[in-house]
Amino acid sequence: MSTDPQVLLVTGASSGIGRATALRAAAAGDHVVLVARGEVSLKEVADECELAGAASTTVLPTDVGDDAAVERCIAETLERFGRIDAVVNAAGVVAYGRTEEVPAPVFDGVLRTNLLGSANIARHVLPVLRRQGRGTLLLVGSVVGHVNVPSMSPYVVSKWGVRSLARQLVLENRDLDDVHIGYVAPGGVDTPIYQQAGNYAGFVGRPPPPVASPERIARQILNRIEHPWLRAQLTLTNDVLRFGFSALPWVYDRIVGPIFPVGATDLGRPVEPTEGNVLVSQETGNALTGDPGNALVGIARNLARRVTGGDQPRH
Ligand SMILES: NC(=O)c1ccc[n+]([C@@H]2O[C@H](COP(=O)([O-])OP(=O)(O)OC[C@H]3O[C@@H](n4cnc5c(N)ncnc54)[C@H](OP(=O)(O)O)[C@@H]3O)[C@@H](O)[C@H]2O)c1
Repeated sequence: MSTDPQVLLVTGASSGIGRATALRAAAAGDHVVLVARGEVSLKEVADECELAGAASTTVLPTDVGDDAAVERCIAETLERFGRIDAVVNAAGVVAYGRTEEVPAPVFDGVLRTNLLGSANIARHVLPVLRRQGRGTLLLVGSVVGHVNVPSMSPYVVSKWGVRSLARQLVLENRDLDDVHIGYVAPGGVDTPIYQQAGNYAGFVGRPPPPVASPERIARQILNRIEHPWLRAQLTLTNDVLRFGFSALPWVYDRIVGPIFPVGATDLGRPVEPTEGNVLVSQETGNALTGDPGNALVGIARNLARRVTGGDQPRH
């Protein structure tokens, strides 16, 4: 890869993994195009990127679930730079709850952003990369695009879809050696997505251990743009889970139900049903990291609550 400033478009750039990715690219002196729904937090990130050393920053408030808006966003980027070197699609939302608990608009909203948003980005980015004969589109998936977990129904379904879309795009673009489709599957990452989530499961979610920092995931993402052959799974724990899910399904299905609320929720933080940021941006919640606290301490407290019966949801 050349050392000239790259033109990198990041969706979900106002928070968590997308924000860390934009900041890291900015620190490397790249042109960063920042995309999310909320303009205020995007402008905050643009200021941080300027300070970090970006060649330029461009703020394009866009809902990735809106195909026409994505088309405009890509056209504006091309108009400004004449090319796009890489796109990282990190926009994402979560809703907790069983399939029948999550209201239809929220269920659909998760699929709209995570899965249809990825397809909208691909639909408008790939013709550009193919015309250029080079460039990378990287989709951010999740370990739950490879295994199922209870109480995250629309999110799990959306991430299985993202994984399938990524593979589909690989097949469709095999003819061009320098057009790359990247896909990464993080495990637990300390970002605000857990507090921002829609929630119909009774308790706030938390990243399961081992919890990575968004900066670490950003480094792994940008490495994969430079070295597309690197693995999609970003932690070894993902491999253990995938092995259990595929090779020992009868064990996996029996233990994931009891383990999930203890390892991936905070039983000390009940929550009233909320659509969170699924349908509308909650900009004040956007930040680089969340506040999950130490994962092992959290699990120990959850176990204690389970034993003492102090883990009943409010509704
Ligand atoms: N955190 C984890 O443990 C974890 C693990 C595995 C995978 N992931 C994946 O990593 C990606 C980033 O997640 P994160 O944890 O960094 O979440 P985050 O901190 O909540 O950031 C999500 C970003 O997406 C934007 N966004 C949400 N809906 C959007 C829409 N319709 N159009 C455009 N932008 C939208 C948000 O801004 P606005 O709301 O203002 O639009 C925000 O900038 C997601 O795909 C997530 O599924 C996260």
